[in-house]
Amino acid sequence: MLSQKLHEALNAQINAEMWSAYLYLSMSMDAEAKGLKGIANWFYVQFREEQDHARILMNYLLSREGRVTLRPIEAVRTEWASPLEMFQDTLKHEKEVTEMINRLASIAAEDHDYASSNMLIWFVNEQVEEEEAAREKIAACEAVDGNKFGLYMLDKELASRTYAQAAQLISSND
Ligand code: FEO
Repeated sequence: MLSQKLHEALNAQINAEMWSAYLYLSMSMDAEAKGLKGIANWFYVQFREEQDHARILMNYLLSREGRVTLRPIEAVRTEWASPLEMFQDTLKHEKEVTEMINRLASIAAEDHDYASSNMLIWFVNEQVEEEEAAREKIAACEAVDGNKFGLYMLDKELASRTYAQAAQLISSND
């Protein structure tokens, strides 16, 4: 059985992942409203991936005889001054998520809950990728630095991102 502390922290993480999804959906809508369809696409894929993160945790809780408790999702910001600001907010947020994941990993370690520790490794690695992706986009926006053609090219590049269901979810569908 999961400890009560870990059970509650996993439910809090599900809420945080859904909030992340909501945040990126809001960025996507803001970008699209401003004609930046590629950036909107990038954040829309991010929105879908965050829902996968929540689903992975829900599946895990259920597999450990836990209960998923869905709580209200807090409101998110709705407008950003520039794509650079969006990606800066993305990095800031992902760093906070990394801290949450690390806290979960600490609780699992304290509990000697090896199954949970093992499951959380995927999230630990995912956070490295999340932060790296945000840093790369910040660097790209800084390189563009207000140049309209540069922004047009960056937008075109980000239009090519496609959604792929997380491998964790595909295997759990077996
Ligand atoms: Fe679910 Fe962006 O971390």
